[in-house]
Amino acid sequence: MKTIEQQKSLKAYNTFGVECFCEYFTSVSTTEELVAALLNEDFSERFILGGGSNLLFTKNLSGLCIHIGLKGIRVIEEDADHVIIEASAGENWHDFVIWTLDQGYGGLENLALIPGNIGTAPIQNIGAYGVELKNSFVNCTTLDTVTATPHQFNLEEAVFGYRNSIFKTDLKGKHVITAVQFRLTKKNHALKTAYGTLQEELGNNLPTPKNIAEAVIAIRQRKLPDPKKIGNSGSFFKNPVITEKHFQKLLVAYPEMPHYRISNSEVKIPAGWIIDRLGYKGIKRGGAGVHEHQALVLVNHGNARGIEILSLAQEIQEKVLERFEISLEIEVNIY
Ligand code: EPU
Repeated sequence: MKTIEQQKSLKAYNTFGVECFCEYFTSVSTTEELVAALLNEDFSERFILGGGSNLLFTKNLSGLCIHIGLKGIRVIEEDADHVIIEASAGENWHDFVIWTLDQGYGGLENLALIPGNIGTAPIQNIGAYGVELKNSFVNCTTLDTVTATPHQFNLEEAVFGYRNSIFKTDLKGKHVITAVQFRLTKKNHALKTAYGTLQEELGNNLPTPKNIAEAVIAIRQRKLPDPKKIGNSGSFFKNPVITEKHFQKLLVAYPEMPHYRISNSEVKIPAGWIIDRLGYKGIKRGGAGVHEHQALVLVNHGNARGIEILSLAQEIQEKVLERFEISLEIEVNIY
């Protein structure tokens, strides 16, 4: 039987670094331990904790918190051009990306330095610089959180969308991801270098996957706060999609507004730019704040409580609605 700790602080287990206590805590390093923890009838409530990089705790947790510490990386199959790799849920995302690049595999280079673990990456279909996890995803293995029976989800079944998947919608809280398989290239890498800032960083040289990862790391280190130094969960809001009519109206007031066309009738606007226009970049409210180089990222400057960060987020949502008539959707999971 795995050790179960009581009243454990989760401050070191969430990248926002906010204080939160869970009633009971256990860390599992094998599937058998995970099954036993899920089926343990002493607890009526369970909370599955991965890398803690996409959540904000606003209250203490009751019941059992199960920390997923499953480790392992293995080759499932390979031919001359491709390889399918399976990584266990508790592996660190960035360390895995670097490992794939060291083996000479391409596909994950644009996703370097994203905080979090393998098991949580599919939940929000992590993405950056023109690439999303779904581009190299083959399948993931899960356990039902109630019955502990195993399941597998392929690309179609995972229903990936922009920072979204079935694990964040219809099946929220119903499955624990234990491993993810990726299809990567061994040669003829499909490099994605079109994202503006990435192109600038790379210059005119013909890049390798490693060069792209280096450029992505350089951009992220410049723009985004390192969670080891300043608590944060990456982008706090999703970039909103507005109608063409709404976009044309805003363009009159803000002709320089950056935007990406999604379809003939829809346009995506960077939420960071909107929040920046409202003068929130770099502001502080007690320990909570908005990052000084990227207004989409809320930060914990020290001892902010989750509720203070959430209240700053709500203030921003209200101001954005008032000035831009846009409802900003929170991307981070709030507990
Ligand atoms: N901008 C500002 N002020 C700001 C922030 C941004 O004017 O404070 C402007 C930039 O100048 C640029 C535009 O907004 O013209 C877009 O900015 P950026 O390239 O930084 O990207 P983003 O749309 O703000 C998204 C993702 C990031 C991802 C980057 C790069 C979302 C919610 N966020 O940010 O993802 O790293 O693109 O691909 O889609 C995350 O999900 O945690 C995350 C960091």
